[in-house]
Order: sequence, then C-alpha cells, then structure tokens
Amino acid sequence: MTMADAKKPWGGRFEKSPSAFLDEFGTSLPVDRRMWAEDVAGSIAHARMLADQGIISERDAEAIESGLSEIYREIRDGRLEFGNADEDIHMAIERTLTERIGPAGGRLHTGRSRNDQVALDTRLYAKGRVLALADAATKLQETIVGLAEEHLDVVMPGYTHLQRAQPVLLSHHLLAYFWMLGRDVRRLRHAHEAADVMPLGSAALAGTTFPVDRAAVAERLGFAAVSANSMDSVSDRDFMFDLTYACTVTMIHLSRLCEELILWSSEEFGFIRMDDAYSTGSSIMPQKKNPDFAELVRGKTGRVIGDLVGLLTVFKGLPLTYNKDMQEDKEGAFDAVDTTLAALKVVEGVLATVYVNDDRMLEAAHGGFMAATDLADHLAGTGMPFREAHEIVGSLVLRLEKEGRTLQELSAAEYAEVHPSLGRDASDVVDVRAVVNRRTSDGGTGAEAVKAQLVAARKALAADTAWAESLAK
Ligand code: ARG
Repeated sequence: MTMADAKKPWGGRFEKSPSAFLDEFGTSLPVDRRMWAEDVAGSIAHARMLADQGIISERDAEAIESGLSEIYREIRDGRLEFGNADEDIHMAIERTLTERIGPAGGRLHTGRSRNDQVALDTRLYAKGRVLALADAATKLQETIVGLAEEHLDVVMPGYTHLQRAQPVLLSHHLLAYFWMLGRDVRRLRHAHEAADVMPLGSAALAGTTFPVDRAAVAERLGFAAVSANSMDSVSDRDFMFDLTYACTVTMIHLSRLCEELILWSSEEFGFIRMDDAYSTGSSIMPQKKNPDFAELVRGKTGRVIGDLVGLLTVFKGLPLTYNKDMQEDKEGAFDAVDTTLAALKVVEGVLATVYVNDDRMLEAAHGGFMAATDLADHLAGTGMPFREAHEIVGSLVLRLEKEGRTLQELSAAEYAEVHPSLGRDASDVVDVRAVVNRRTSDGGTGAEAVKAQLVAARKALAADTAWAESLAK
C-alpha cells in the first residue's frame, strides 16, 4: 500500500488526496524514522499523564503503553519496519498502534498535536546526540593529553604565516587543540541546555483545552523545564541551531588539525607518520600512502558548514507558528551530527596510532633562525636599545642565510665578533631547548608551564566527564 491509497488521518475534511508523487515529496519518514525511540517515549509519557489526569481511562492508557512498548521492542530488534505508507515517524507509530489496539490508540493524540510532538521528539533526540558528541570529543581530548604527556620533551618549530617562528614543545602545540575541543564541549552543553525544555501541552500552537499536567510529563521524560509560551514552543528550533553550530565549530577545529597532520605527514615536513590503517594507497602509483581520512574530515567540514547555513536559511522568513518548512530542520542537522561524530572518532584514531618523528621535529627546530628573538632580547638585556639589537641580529641572520648556516653553528669567537657580550653567552642563548624553556609565562611553551597546563587540562577533562555522567544516568 502506498501513502496515496491509505486513508489520511485528516481524511474527514477532504474529497481528494495528494498523488503518490506529492506524498513522496511531502514525507519526512526517511529522515525522522531515527527518532522512533523518542517518539515512543514521548507518547508513553503523554498517555500516562492523560490517564493520571482522568482525561483517558486507565485501561486505555495501559493498552497504549503496552502497545507502544511492543512496537518499541519490535523496531529495536528489526522486526517492524515502516514502508513508505506514512507521512512521518509519528504517524507511522500511531497508525501501527491503532491497528493493533483499536480505538484506545485513537485516544493517544488527545490534547496533543504533531507540532508539539515533533518538537518534543526532536528535543529528546538532540539531547541524546549532544551526549554522544560530548563523549566522542572528550575521548579525543583524552588521546591528545595522552600524546602530550608522552612526548613532553619533543621540540618542534612553531609557525606564524606557516614560516618557522619560535620553537615550541609538540605537547604545547597539541594541547592547543585540547582547549579548542573543550570549548566545543561547552558549546554542546549549551545546546543541551537549549534542548532541555519540554514543549508538550502546547498542542498545535495555542495550548489545549484538556487539563494536562505538563510538569509531570517533563519530569517523566527528564526535562529540566517546561516551555513558557505555546507559540514559541512549537516554532522554536534554536536548539537545533545551537547543536548544528556546535558541530560546525567542532568540524572547523578538526579540519585545522587534519590540515596540520596532512602537512606534517608529507615528505617535506616528515614530522609524523600516519598508521597504515588510517592511510590509503594509490591505484596507479605503488609508492603512495595518502592521508585520505584526515583529508575527508577536512572536506566534510564544508558540508557541515552547509548544513548550518541551510538550517538557518529555512527559518529566516517563517511567520509564527508551525510551518511545514520546519520539517526541513532535520536532514541537515542530522547530517551535521552524524558527520561530526564520525569525524571525532576518525581523528581520535589517527592520533592514537600516529608515529612521531622526534628527530625530524628537533632538526626542523634548528632551522629558520628561530632563536633570533632571544638573541636580540639578550643584547637588549645588556642595556642596548632593542631596535639596535634587532638590527644587529637581523644582519647576522642575513649573513648566515647566505652562508647556509644556523645560529647554533656559530662559534663563540664568531659571536664575539658580532658583539663582545655574545662571545660568552650566545651558545646558551640560542640553544633550542633553552629557547623553549625560557617561555615560562603561564600558558607559554616552557616545559614547566606546559606541565602546569597538563594538570589544568586533566582537571578540565574531569569536570566535563562529570557533567556528561551526571546527565547520562
Ligand atoms: N513531519 C512533520 C515535521 O517534521 C511533523 C509535523 C507536522 N505538523 C503539521 N501540522 N503538518 O515537521
């Protein structure tokens, strides 16, 4: 049976039904079927409340509850599948229930509209996905901290303009991504808070004439609050914006990280090697090992940005309250969530299995005259105006560049010629590890500062994990 043949739930008012083509155009079942568990949970809570309030009989409520529980088990076990005969998951479940339990099924929708029902299901679904995303982000943070602890003594070039700028610890560089992900988790927490408001009882837009107990439904479903305005309640998808935005920023962070991993794994950098399991070969060039998965994360970021823009655009001109346009809120948002979740897992795997070439990083840290700032600071410390110190070191760099030498290769005698005060101290001043460790400011790259940062990172991670656990209970 196709949808066009089926009797519509609103059939009473109509003499004709949309064609099969229009039914197909109008259905959201392929997209919203994934909210089946939320729909069942929402309907059970609604039916229970209706009976507790004396709006439907206890017998009807029991028939509804056991019918829905059976539907739940069948869908979960893959024994019940919906074809294309329904407009959305809400209608599919209600129709199945009514076919099985008769008129009691028809009483489920008392005091409820699909407008508040779909808002409820989407909120429940969003809350669950936030937890899954936060969990994946936290796992990746865990892996990053682990790597940072393991490679605490590895020095590498830090870049500005993708030119070697000042040497840093690899740990420091990696931890930058730890903090980005921490902000992503905070954005996810905000999306959770936005979704954690119970809309049922708003009905189509104006509320309901039945004496519903909205607080009881909220409590049963684990919502922190009940929505304050029925019109806002059925037309609000801010939580979907927040969730999709949180995904988008996360993807941008992952994309930047992947871009670096791709660069670092190139022969030109040679800083890391990705595990074979996270690489692919070429069908023509036998020597190739490509960082496909990191590239795909970078590429999919474009699509997730598109999901956010698409979602926002759907809403920009909508009058209150529900408009069918709003059915388009899910496809992009779900795609953003799925993609981000997968990307977090991919990047976690890449980092958990990465090989770090310490020697190559250290060697690169000797190039690029990255101790030049420290040399100039040293001269300024002797009382020389910094501008003059800058000039002297600048000329030295120019000379060494022509000679193809590094700052570390100059002898004490040669340094003394550049400036008398350098003869004794220069080799210490330009020592790459010393250059790093001189950055003792809070949040700087000196080993001691990075150790303190690691402690702070572990603490932040524990707080986020505790938050997630308090909600997942
Ligand atoms: N499938 C619809 C959606 O996702 C359900 C709400 C339908 N409400 C309505 N008045 N047609 O938005």
